[in-house]
Amino acid sequence: MLAYLETFGCQANERDSETIQGMLQQMGYEMTHEPSLAQLILFNTCSIREKAEQKVFSRLGTLKKLKEEKPGLIIGLCGCMAQEKDMIPQLRRRCPYVDLVIGTHRLHRLPAMIRNIQGGLGFQSDIAETCEIIEDLPAIRPFPFKALINITYGCNNFCTYCIVPYVRGRERSRSLEAILEESRRRVAEGALEIMYLGQNVNAYGRDLEDSRASFDRLLQEADKLDGLQRIRYMTSHPRDFKESMIDTIAASSKISHHFHLPVQSGSDTILQRMNRGYTRERYLELVHSIRNKIPNATLTTDIIVGFPGETEADFMDTLHLAETVVYDAAFTFMYSPRQGTPAASMPDQIPLKEKKERLHQLMETQAAISLKRHQAMQGQTVQVLAETYSSGILTGRSEGSQLVHFPGPENGAGKFYCVKITEPQTFLLKGEIL
Ligand code: 5AD
Ligand code: SF4
Repeated sequence: MLAYLETFGCQANERDSETIQGMLQQMGYEMTHEPSLAQLILFNTCSIREKAEQKVFSRLGTLKKLKEEKPGLIIGLCGCMAQEKDMIPQLRRRCPYVDLVIGTHRLHRLPAMIRNIQGGLGFQSDIAETCEIIEDLPAIRPFPFKALINITYGCNNFCTYCIVPYVRGRERSRSLEAILEESRRRVAEGALEIMYLGQNVNAYGRDLEDSRASFDRLLQEADKLDGLQRIRYMTSHPRDFKESMIDTIAASSKISHHFHLPVQSGSDTILQRMNRGYTRERYLELVHSIRNKIPNATLTTDIIVGFPGETEADFMDTLHLAETVVYDAAFTFMYSPRQGTPAASMPDQIPLKEKKERLHQLMETQAAISLKRHQAMQGQTVQVLAETYSSGILTGRSEGSQLVHFPGPENGAGKFYCVKITEPQTFLLKGEIL
């Protein structure tokens, strides 16, 4: 039996897809890259912006004909879209050939649901608002040298634009022991790099009774793991990034010197309406402290343009902030109203044309900054963990998470290389092995 799985969205979904593949393997499925060969097709979906959802609906649309030709084919949808309010009736209407909808908190029930459909029980759905953390589900890892490890699930921030707290539920931390145990196991299995995952990693542990469980403590413990070479994490919230965490990172040779600090806007008025919990000044203090303590830090960010009520002056504040911080890279988005979030019903929604213009201007400004940052690296040497190989070129990330391309051996993925930067570009660094 063959299964096809397509993953949209962030690393939380990528990690869930590892579990999905583990469970499918236990059921006797093998994975295929070709949907037309599969008896089971699953989409692990993302809700963050409307575009992400449109992509899934259009992919589902392409399956209609396949399902008519292969009535035994099982088509399922999991991930964040499954958790959205009223998604099931909408799916039943738009894509009645979908057999299965499973929420992010119910993944462990996937095998039973598939068996029910195979047994002729028809459409299956299982969605829950929240649930306990289920440990020890099987998983298949596409990159054995790189471990994605969840530390928290869900989110309590309620940024007014964001759907995540509604689809992924309240913040729940795994126990420090469970995380360290998984970390030890993965390193013993050959992982060289760990990526700790959470919607707000800096808040790790605040929902636990164990007062030792904090992000700081977790980093300090992971830093001691023999054989582990690099520790990364995603995503930080600038409000909860404490000085002590910067000190822990500065003192460690394993913790990446990459700081992804989503700022979202450079205007205090907008930050307040977004419910971000920091001001422009406080954010800049954090950046200053990082640069001060870790001079070679790379800084990246997420920015939303066209939030409701964003004036030209607010947008200029964002542009100037990007110029002040000098980010290595920025992920820039047009505000996309998400049903049920406070910002979707705020007055003064910004017309699409204006959002597009602002996005364009911001991208151009940032591209020039990124290029300059990268050009300053000409001739420097970086440590790269190669992740993939294609046509003579290895691709990987530096200690600062910069994307690096360099000629290398076909069996080079999963190894560290010293790479001299020879051709810096806007979005990547090209180099050669030293
Ligand atoms: N519209 C546009 N961008 C959004 N993001 C989150 N919600 C929205 C939305 N409704 C962006 C934020 C976040 C990143 C993952 O996606 O910048 O940091
Ligand atoms: Fe998309 Fe957010 Fe869900 Fe990740 S947690 S898949 S970004 S909606």
